[in-house]
Amino acid sequence: MGNFLAGKVVAVTGAGRGIGRAVALACAAEGAKVVVNDYGVSIEGAEPASEIAGTVVKEIEAAGGEAVAVADDIATMAGGQRVVDTALERYGRIDGVVCVAGILRERMLFNMSEEEWDPVVATHLKGTFTVFRAASAVMRERRGGTLIGFTSGNHQGSVSQANYSAAKGGIISLVRSAALGLHKYGVTANCVAPVARTRMSANVPMELKEIGEPEDVAALVVYLLSDRAREERITGQVYTIAGPKIAVWAQPRELRAAYADGSWTPEKLADFLPGTVGTDPMPMLTQLEAMAAAAASKERPNA
Ligand SMILES: NC(=O)c1ccc[n+]([C@@H]2O[C@H](COP(=O)([O-])OP(=O)(O)OC[C@H]3O[C@@H](n4cnc5c(N)ncnc54)[C@H](O)[C@@H]3O)[C@@H](O)[C@H]2O)c1
Repeated sequence: MGNFLAGKVVAVTGAGRGIGRAVALACAAEGAKVVVNDYGVSIEGAEPASEIAGTVVKEIEAAGGEAVAVADDIATMAGGQRVVDTALERYGRIDGVVCVAGILRERMLFNMSEEEWDPVVATHLKGTFTVFRAASAVMRERRGGTLIGFTSGNHQGSVSQANYSAAKGGIISLVRSAALGLHKYGVTANCVAPVARTRMSANVPMELKEIGEPEDVAALVVYLLSDRAREERITGQVYTIAGPKIAVWAQPRELRAAYADGSWTPEKLADFLPGTVGTDPMPMLTQLEAMAAAAASKERPNA
């Protein structure tokens, strides 16, 4: 047991399995009291089973830590609120929330149904909002706290998971908005893009060359929740962690600008744009053939 998070109370969603479970165990091992949330669903988000969160609580208690289970669906406002309220009722405070819960419903865009789009966006993006919303209201009052969202390298785009990619891009913008909106209250917000061996990564459409264990991701989350990261004023950042690799993503910014002499017309743009602002080539476009070959070998849905 370390003391990186001694005295802190941390809530972790999706903490019944995979990365969330490793985060919850690591937070407890570093001295935090932990709210373990998990709806206990299949990878597609079906068949909720409430015992999953309780199992992790027992593991934490067996190791000498303190934890409480919440089996709610964080895609609901009531679920997000309950996660935060449980921390306050049981432990009297909330210092950090880590939104890890996620599901996958893979389908090509041209065949994707509303039933494949809505739950994925609701679990990832709204499920981060519900918890951030409830936690930030308390953190604003007590002038401190840490919000952590989970994104993916797939926020750059995805061949067969437009729903997941769009939700993960949304989470980055939500985290940056939280960083901006809560800066004056001493609340930090950051995003983690993990690559780790779990049931979810076993499902990705391509071979992952750089990958590690959920415990690598948990170490980064513990650091970001700690006073050491707060002293460095780390906020509004997106970090990839993949085994031994850690990387920071660039902030979005305009690459090149040009100005019209007078107002724009389509004709003027057709003459002017290609030779001036041009394009910024999309790195993933160059990987399409390799991804298609990997997908074919893994029997991906092409429907
Ligand atoms: N594993 C990777 O390499 C990888 C890569 C990129 C991003 N991610 C992201 O990291 C996070 C964790 O992924 P993982 O690989 O550990 O997945 P996982 O499937 O092992 O665990 C996800 C957990 O979230 C829970 N969950 C799902 N919907 C929920 C809801 N509505 N309310 C509460 N809990 C819910 C599930 O029951 C499950 O226990 C996800 O957000 C995922 O998108 C993972």
